[in-house]
Amino acid sequence: TGYICYDQGYGNTGSCESTITYLDGDNGILRHRGYPIEQLAAHSNYVETAYLVIYGELPNAEQRLKFGKLLRENATVAPQMQKFFDAFPKDAPPMVMLSSMVGALASYHPELATNNFETDLKNFDQSAAVLISKIRTIGAMIYRHQKGLPFIFPKDLPFADNFLHMMFSEPYEDYKIIPEVSHALNLLLLLHADHEQNCSTSTVRMVGSSAANIFTSLSSGIGALSGPLHGGANTAVMQMLQSIHDEGDDGTRFVEAAKQGNKSNRLMGFGHPVYRNYDPRATIIGKACDEVLAKLGIKDPLLDIAKRLEHAALNEDYFISRKLYPNVDFYSGIIMRALGIPTSMFTVIFAIGRAPGQIANWREVASNAKGRIYRPRQIFNGHPQRDYTPMNLR
Ligand code: CMC
Repeated sequence: TGYICYDQGYGNTGSCESTITYLDGDNGILRHRGYPIEQLAAHSNYVETAYLVIYGELPNAEQRLKFGKLLRENATVAPQMQKFFDAFPKDAPPMVMLSSMVGALASYHPELATNNFETDLKNFDQSAAVLISKIRTIGAMIYRHQKGLPFIFPKDLPFADNFLHMMFSEPYEDYKIIPEVSHALNLLLLLHADHEQNCSTSTVRMVGSSAANIFTSLSSGIGALSGPLHGGANTAVMQMLQSIHDEGDDGTRFVEAAKQGNKSNRLMGFGHPVYRNYDPRATIIGKACDEVLAKLGIKDPLLDIAKRLEHAALNEDYFISRKLYPNVDFYSGIIMRALGIPTSMFTVIFAIGRAPGQIANWREVASNAKGRIYRPRQIFNGHPQRDYTPMNLR
């Protein structure tokens, strides 16, 4: 009953009230709990920003210590769960493995996943730490599985270093920490920490609104993040840059194809459902890209191609009139490549980074005593009523 507003893709629908992230797409502003992303990128690190996003305040020294301890205590994945990887094909899609493993965490932590808001909220600190820490460990296990290498156990290391250790150490030789690499990975994770009601976070809220536990809700969000129009875009950007490079093209073909307005030929890493201005994360990443490559002494031809492509697109009327600018995914892949991370892992890293925002959003839903189950309506434009036709008359 009543009047249903048609808002395709919910672009103009406020689906919830939230105190986590402020996003002003017209002016390119992004703030977590009031703090501008530029300040967090310059002064904070991923774990501290995760705490901020989840708990609403920057941690004091004692809170930070306690949070770090919880993350370290929860870094290991149960031996039985590690056996899941025996059943995944070596070339299973990484985001499929990640979503399955995160969903499976619910069965290994039944006390944290009761599908009852009250009890699940009582154990929220533990669940948040399990998720943040284990998603990273699972991410590293996915990498090792792809390479056919044995898993490496976490050590008492800072968050990003531990991830690099679990990916790149060998049983006979530890990965050597390179401060520039640790810093760049930290920055990448931090820049992905939350982003308002994006497709995957909204999915987490939607699923969570049915009182589904936090693990099941995040697993669903990871599924949403896997799509090439969302988290999968960082992979698609690299594939695009690589094929421009392989063909010795200057990128004109991709820009011209994108201008046809066909969904399947979009310029990857360009445009955003909310930003009608530069994505502030893209500005930070673009700059970091130059710095990281210079510090590591890497000359990547794909970076030159990306810059030429950006320049070409930004001078085209098609992109100017639609206010299409590079987004966070445009340069992030080039940094990850410089860190030695293969393209197949890019979206997994996005998912690890995005966990704090998804956790905080799940908590808002679970804590809202007056919250309703998410249940949008539709505009029905199918058949009017008609009579059933028996098989012999069809
Ligand atoms: N290349 C060419 N045309 C585009 C592009 C693009 N990348 N993005 C949007 N357009 C066109 C679109 O076809 C539409 O044209 P018209 O008005 O003629 O119909 C116009 O620009 C406005 O599109 P929109 O309403 O802003 O786009 P949307 O909200 O439907 O889609 C998007 C947003 C991010 C899915 C889209 O820009 C896109 O597909 N970009 C490429 C994929 C990508 O980089 N995704 C990562 C997004 S940021 C990180 C994340 O969320 O995961």
